[in-house]
Amino acid sequence: MKTEKRTDRADVLNPEEVAGRLHTKWLAKHIQYSATIDSTNLEAVRCAQGAWENGTLILTDMQTAGRGRRGRGWDSPGGVNIFFSLLLKPPISPDKASMLTLVMALSVAKGVEETAGTACAVKWPNDIVVNDKKVCGILTEMSVKPNEIQHVIIGVGINVNMADIPEELKNRATSLAIEAGRTIPRNMLLTAVLSHFEKDYEAFLQTEDLSGMLEQYNGRLINRGRMVRVLDPQGEFEGMAEGITPTGELLVRRADHTVETVYAGEVSVRGLYGYV
Ligand code: BTN
Repeated sequence: MKTEKRTDRADVLNPEEVAGRLHTKWLAKHIQYSATIDSTNLEAVRCAQGAWENGTLILTDMQTAGRGRRGRGWDSPGGVNIFFSLLLKPPISPDKASMLTLVMALSVAKGVEETAGTACAVKWPNDIVVNDKKVCGILTEMSVKPNEIQHVIIGVGINVNMADIPEELKNRATSLAIEAGRTIPRNMLLTAVLSHFEKDYEAFLQTEDLSGMLEQYNGRLINRGRMVRVLDPQGEFEGMAEGITPTGELLVRRADHTVETVYAGEVSVRGLYGYV
């Protein structure tokens, strides 16, 4: 990728262009853009303290305190990647909100396939993977008041045109540009992801589960048919991942042929021979 540094600078993340390209009905009609911010998820929490519109998009070019799952950070350099959060008020009970992370994972995978032209898989529940390495992470956070959702924040970080992956992540993370061998237009990719998400979210709300997108998700599930180690605080075990249920749990068949239903959350899943 000899021309990467020059072409990357030409790829400017531009909220006006995103708004102009978007043909959604209600999603991202309000875009809150800052060139630099601590974390779009934190900004979404601040935004939710005042009056806010369902489907608000919080977008930035660079985060100074990007947050990952399990209290980790999220590498968020400027000028190359996509970092955004959606602020939503889904009319569902709080116990169903975790499925929204899987809905977003599917929407990102479809947007990446369309824009970058690379095959894209999902590592359950919500890592997006290209050529067996992670290109995107999703952090969903929720505020609940006596059994009613106040808001859900879905934060998405996509390694788009990042040329250098931090040394400690190189064996399991990559960027779309590294895998596709060209600069990927960020405005176009973001628009594609948001367009898919509006449709997928509406399909989810119709049934309040993933039944309308089960085939699409399972078809991209990288763990499917592979041996996995389930890191459950109650006890680790190994088995063959078979797919997800309509409510988003992973089905894992043990050597004795019993099938375990694995819930996301405390549990994580690893391939037996590496990240996937
Ligand atoms: C993970 O650990 O896999 C989830 C990473 C989520 C990162 C995104 S970047 C945009 C949003 N703002 C944050 O601070 N985190 C999420």
